[in-house]
Amino acid sequence: MSRARAAIILAAGQGTRMKSELPKVLHQVGGRAMLDWAIATAQGVGAARVVVVVGTHSPAVGEHVAKRLGAESVAIQDPPLGTAHAVRAAEQALAGFDGDVVVTYADAPFVPAERIEALFNLRADKGGLAVLGFEAADPTGYGRLILSADGALDRIVEQRDANEAERAVKLSNSGVLCADAKTLFQLLAQVRNDNAKGEYYLTDVVALGRAAGHKTHVLTGPESDTLGVNSKVELAEAEAQFQQRMRRAAMEAGVTLIDPASVFFSYDTVIESDVTIEPNVYFGLGVKVAKGARIKAYCHIDGAEIGPGSNVGPFARLRPGTKLGPNVKIGNFVEVKNATFGAKAQASHLTYVGDADVGARANLGCGTITCNYDGFSKFRTTIGEDVFIGSDTALVAPVTVGDRAYTGTGSVITKDVPPGALGVARARQTNIEGWADKNRAAKQKPKP
Ligand code: UD1
Ligand code: MG
Repeated sequence: MSRARAAIILAAGQGTRMKSELPKVLHQVGGRAMLDWAIATAQGVGAARVVVVVGTHSPAVGEHVAKRLGAESVAIQDPPLGTAHAVRAAEQALAGFDGDVVVTYADAPFVPAERIEALFNLRADKGGLAVLGFEAADPTGYGRLILSADGALDRIVEQRDANEAERAVKLSNSGVLCADAKTLFQLLAQVRNDNAKGEYYLTDVVALGRAAGHKTHVLTGPESDTLGVNSKVELAEAEAQFQQRMRRAAMEAGVTLIDPASVFFSYDTVIESDVTIEPNVYFGLGVKVAKGARIKAYCHIDGAEIGPGSNVGPFARLRPGTKLGPNVKIGNFVEVKNATFGAKAQASHLTYVGDADVGARANLGCGTITCNYDGFSKFRTTIGEDVFIGSDTALVAPVTVGDRAYTGTGSVITKDVPPGALGVARARQTNIEGWADKNRAAKQKPKP
């Protein structure tokens, strides 16, 4: 990569068809905003400068960009007068930049980085302008790529401005375009709005470029790459496509998915080989599952690291800050939050472990609860190695149970239990001989 790279991401569209208060490009796919997908791709191809063009109608988009990339990466287009006008809005933010720039759309953010890399390379090798195109099954609505006799790209004609012959062309414009920055802005300055929509079309830079003696190239990719999102229906389609990709990638990396269609990933989910995932499992953000673990059916896992050989579920909920060591067992109806489990520790049934450290080989009985919250603050529970927590123990934090200690079943533990001790905190049992029989007899006496 010899030439410097930059990216201009267009995000000034209104997105009214989403029918949402949330701006379109902040809607998420795989747990990541579409805009962040576009930014990640731009950074992935080595764009040293990334400028996002935003409208004035949704300040949240500009704030999002400023937070992620800095205020200098925000360019405001006001009012939106077309895609060429939008790209021009980024000119100032790229002042002094000498290199190649790619234009992408924040609402079509799934063009793979490899494709954009190839577009940059095509342009760098052959000079001029390069456009990413695709053969549309139904090209209605897309700009058509009209080739000249020599196979070069002659011009792009928008649907509304196309004649019948041009409309018959299936080779369509994805919107992704790559050019030398200086040339691009020079050409953009010549774009006029004398077209059916009365807008400044970015696509016009192709004909203008050719007229000025620049070469123009098309790189074709699959239509699915350019999937755009304009509505909640299309958002769900994009999500489905993303999930398909993740499931396939997981299986190709050696993960067993018994029912792939019912397993949901986030963009950053990391699953090592020889992990088995049973049906109906949801992975939120920030999950890592190490080799050989098994995630049983119906688990909801978020912000958790699962150690090698561990078993989780069925019906377990792992929340952010969960770190399970090797060969840990988390059974059914167990919730874990902000807690660590040492090797071979287990909580097999009906348990809440929050803000806690559980030592290696500790066994938490059925119904163990860490009482971590007093309505104002959170407190930590420390459970040592080889500890045995009796069923239905309430551990009122802050509290420590030392190594090898036991707690008696049904205890409410409010004081530390020393290593090797038994902590019991419950009323002693008394048996009242004959009470039940007498009671039954009294209740069953016929009424006078
Ligand atoms: C555009 C292309 C068309 C291509 C299609 C692919 C033009 C003139 N046409 O058409 O050739 O086949 O995309 O989907 O470029 N935007 C702004 N400011 C504006 C207008 C648009 O930021 O003033 C942004 C939108 O948010 C969107 C993108 O640019 O992300 C494309 O705009 P859109 O109105 O969807 O263009 P199309 O008519 O679909
Ligand atoms: Mg569009």
